[in-house]
Amino acid sequence: MFSISNRRYTGSKYKLLDWIEELITENCEGETFFDVFAGTGVVSDRMKKHFSHIIMNDFLYSNEIIYNAFFGTGQYNPDTIKQHEQKYQSLHAKKLNKNYFSENFGAKYFSEYDAKIIGYIREDIKRNKKLLSDREYFILLASLLYSMDKVANTVGHYDAYRKIDSINDRFKYELIKPENCGEKFEIYREDSNTLARKIHADIAFVDPPYNSRQYSRFYHVLENVTLWKKPKLEGTALKPKAENMSDYCRKNAPEVFGDLIDNLDVKYIIVTYNNTFNSKSSSSQNKITLEEIKNILSSKGETMVYEKKHQCFNAGKTEFDDHKELVFITKVGVKGGKE
Ligand SMILES: C[S@@+](CC[C@H](N)C(=O)[O-])C[C@H]1O[C@@H](n2cnc3c(N)ncnc32)[C@H](O)[C@@H]1O
Repeated sequence: MFSISNRRYTGSKYKLLDWIEELITENCEGETFFDVFAGTGVVSDRMKKHFSHIIMNDFLYSNEIIYNAFFGTGQYNPDTIKQHEQKYQSLHAKKLNKNYFSENFGAKYFSEYDAKIIGYIREDIKRNKKLLSDREYFILLASLLYSMDKVANTVGHYDAYRKIDSINDRFKYELIKPENCGEKFEIYREDSNTLARKIHADIAFVDPPYNSRQYSRFYHVLENVTLWKKPKLEGTALKPKAENMSDYCRKNAPEVFGDLIDNLDVKYIIVTYNNTFNSKSSSSQNKITLEEIKNILSSKGETMVYEKKHQCFNAGKTEFDDHKELVFITKVGVKGGKE
């Protein structure tokens, strides 16, 4: 069974969780934790034992489905989920017709055989939606996303597929492990800056994109399967029309970041960022300088900065070998500052 961390995701804080957890528990107090750019959701998952209420947000459709599958409030029948798993594991692609997914992604991101099965399962989940509870629907769909991601012919994102002669058939439909968390989680799919104006919390964890690489473009295959509107796809990477393009990946990132920080109604702000501002590859360069972050945060209160060496995700090339991850902790309304 998949746990929430069993996926490849650019900028995931999975490997830094012990450090982040220690910094937060030593420096902050409160009941409500707001994960403003939750990504995989691993930070919220780790923090759930320390806080009575967790607010998760990310503007990707696939992430919202995944949070609802793992932490949603609705009921699900484990037998129903298990029956679907058995049905999907016994499929044979030779008996299936071509479908939207196999025609677009077969022999590219997945083998022809696997792509037929993935497309069939997605269509079947849609067909059965009215017979499923909302939570069952989220669990079955998130399980498909995790199972696909595990075998995708990529380096970890869908900006390109690996050009190889023959892709092995490796897909197996496996379930995620849903949790029963009652009402603990509140889940949003909104633009961070719009949502910040509506939320009141004790701690905001702010982990925005660092560079010009747009998450909606990197994970377009997962978004496509989640939405299942079967759009026309373009280019060699087979992407749909652009949606959810983030200002944090653009030139105006410093202003958008300033606006977010200004509008957060919290006692503590935790920001994670890295130091790739001068990276050789322009798409890896930071959109906001560390100085800018420090200045913006210091206007809200005393800000401390912590750093750690970290090997970041980068498609196999060493673009930058002095990679550091930084954590800023701001005590809102507290005057002064030390580093
Ligand atoms: C660095 S990742 C977060 C990683 C996360 N902390 C983890 O450990 O997996 C940044 C996330 O911000 C999301 N994002 C980017 N711009 C956004 C916006 N304007 N509003 C909401 N989410 C946004 C992206 O989809 C991506 O998942």
